[in-house]
Amino acid sequence: MNDITVHDKTFQLFLSETEIQTAINRIGQQITVDYKGRTPLFIGVLNGAFMFCSDLMKAVDVSCEITFVRLSSYTGTKSTGEVRTIMSLQEEVAGRDIILVEDIVDTGLTMQKALKYFHTLNPNSVEIASLLVKPDALQCELDVKYRGFDIPEKFVVGYGLDYDGYGRNFKDIYQLKLDQV
Ligand code: IMP
Repeated sequence: MNDITVHDKTFQLFLSETEIQTAINRIGQQITVDYKGRTPLFIGVLNGAFMFCSDLMKAVDVSCEITFVRLSSYTGTKSTGEVRTIMSLQEEVAGRDIILVEDIVDTGLTMQKALKYFHTLNPNSVEIASLLVKPDALQCELDVKYRGFDIPEKFVVGYGLDYDGYGRNFKDIYQLKLDQV
């Protein structure tokens, strides 16, 4: 019951739609307080963060803008060790208050490199909002100021998160079942 199958794997319900929306409302209220009088620019990291971005923006009650980037640390099949934007921003970042919106922070390396990149564009400030964080998987120091849930180091799908491209459309988040790797 409450299991789903994506490709060859079975997942079990982990976070319900209600739990997710409650966490997002909490983050939205935090951001509303912290950014009072400012006009933050949300930068959603595609593809995974599209649902979180949409709901987070609705939960924020300050004047704000949103845009999206696609990041890649790969050229062909090789990691370059640097995050490149492969869909560049039209918006001016210099002087802005940036909130990077991510679906999940795992090793933290993507966000660490993204932070480094966005700092080169001279913003006024940069913070990270991530719906999920796997603290035990972190491989670097990363300040995720706005976070929905700290979760165990297990693979999850749903609510924008995919397994091999599929599973993003579920309203809830599902975790890989215990007997599978
Ligand atoms: P990091 O650089 O290791 O923090 O990787 C973050 C990215 O890995 C996320 O944006 C996701 O695309 C992907 N990822 C990490 N863990 C999961 C998971 O459990 N489910 C789906 N995607 C994941």
